[in-house]
Amino acid sequence: MDQTVSRRTAPLTGAYRPEGDKSLSHRALLFAALAEGTSTVRRFLVGGVTKAMLRCLRDLGVAWSLDEETHTLTVRGVGPKGFRAPAAPLNCGNSATTFRLLAGVLAGAGIPCVLDGSEGLRKRPMNRIADPLRLMGAAVETAEGRAPLIFAPASLKGVTYALPVASAQVKSCLILAALTADGPTLLTEPGPSRDHTERMLSAMGASVTPVAPYGARVEPLMAPLRPLDTELAGDISSAAFLIVAATLVPGSDFLLERVGINPTRTGIVDALRAMGADIVFENESSMAGEPVADIRVRAASLRGTSVSGDLVVRMIDEFPAFMIAAAAAQGETIVRDAAELRTKESDRIAVMTARLRALGVDMEEYPDGFRIRGTGRIPGGAAVDAQGDHRVAMSLALAGLAADRPVTVAGFEMLNESFPDFPKVLGLC
Ligand code: S3P
Repeated sequence: MDQTVSRRTAPLTGAYRPEGDKSLSHRALLFAALAEGTSTVRRFLVGGVTKAMLRCLRDLGVAWSLDEETHTLTVRGVGPKGFRAPAAPLNCGNSATTFRLLAGVLAGAGIPCVLDGSEGLRKRPMNRIADPLRLMGAAVETAEGRAPLIFAPASLKGVTYALPVASAQVKSCLILAALTADGPTLLTEPGPSRDHTERMLSAMGASVTPVAPYGARVEPLMAPLRPLDTELAGDISSAAFLIVAATLVPGSDFLLERVGINPTRTGIVDALRAMGADIVFENESSMAGEPVADIRVRAASLRGTSVSGDLVVRMIDEFPAFMIAAAAAQGETIVRDAAELRTKESDRIAVMTARLRALGVDMEEYPDGFRIRGTGRIPGGAAVDAQGDHRVAMSLALAGLAADRPVTVAGFEMLNESFPDFPKVLGLC
């Protein structure tokens, strides 16, 4: 399945329940390892990125078992100081979430270890965690600000730290380190990054409280974390591809069931609604401290919009899919304040601009964003490559569903990192 051809498709109808949220799956697994006792996690995402976290934890001496049929995970917690020094570097694959969250745990774990990953991961910025971890007293070396990171045992202290960019991975790394520090830690950040770490750790008994407008105050753990017995909400970042697909394919009326609608993640819905999309939340409830809803999407014609500021943070993973919506809309879409997109699995501004241009879209990049002049149609009719980025792969396939001529996507298998069901749900193979 290295390459797929995506073309106009029948309307999306019926219902689909997305797999467990990627961010929640990473956190449930890692926090379960930090707890005392056995945790059970249902609807755990079985994808390349979570398999990276599973592999690393096994190498750190954590016992877990995963039923890949039912997506049920059990983890025997070892506590923050109970990890075994790994014999070889820990391989985080392509998963920056695995890397950055584990770094926070390893900084205070009292063991020597090396944290590494794929060639792609080695290109991503890691000083954003290494610098504040050092402020906390961590003994960590980087390869000129990139992976691998080399940790030696160290005692951590509580700090006050203002994150220069809104990042849930950095915030979570520091919250996890703060759990083993000698005093409280105060973290502030410039925007509303996802708050799943705060919610889940609080539910497990840690003292992690929100700070206005954005940030968290963390007290060192006074008692062991309680194990989890939980079912995870569906991934809105995976659902976003289907929301865009159902919006763009005429005649669609599609229901996405039990999807997480944490307000730090629903920026894509706000942006698409501003463009004229027909998206309705039904049956709102909560699952394990996270708001969920069924999301009904009916096809609609879109118009251009502008996105900047906090909205960028609340839809940070959804820009590749959003670009397809903007390309298929009538009128101009402008995005600013989004330089972070250049630090993801690929430089998503440069990579998507080159590919959408190859598909006949009028698109221009800015250092911190892009402009798309939508004409209401995507010409298509080209072969484009995913650049090793799962969300680029899925977005290019999405373009094919709405384009005049088919789109061939090379490197399509990258979708297995986060959304293995994607081809099945959209009838691609
Ligand atoms: C994530 C945070 C985001 C997001 C990533 C998952 C998380 O990264 O892009 O896919 O689970 O904390 P940043 O924190 O770097 O923005």
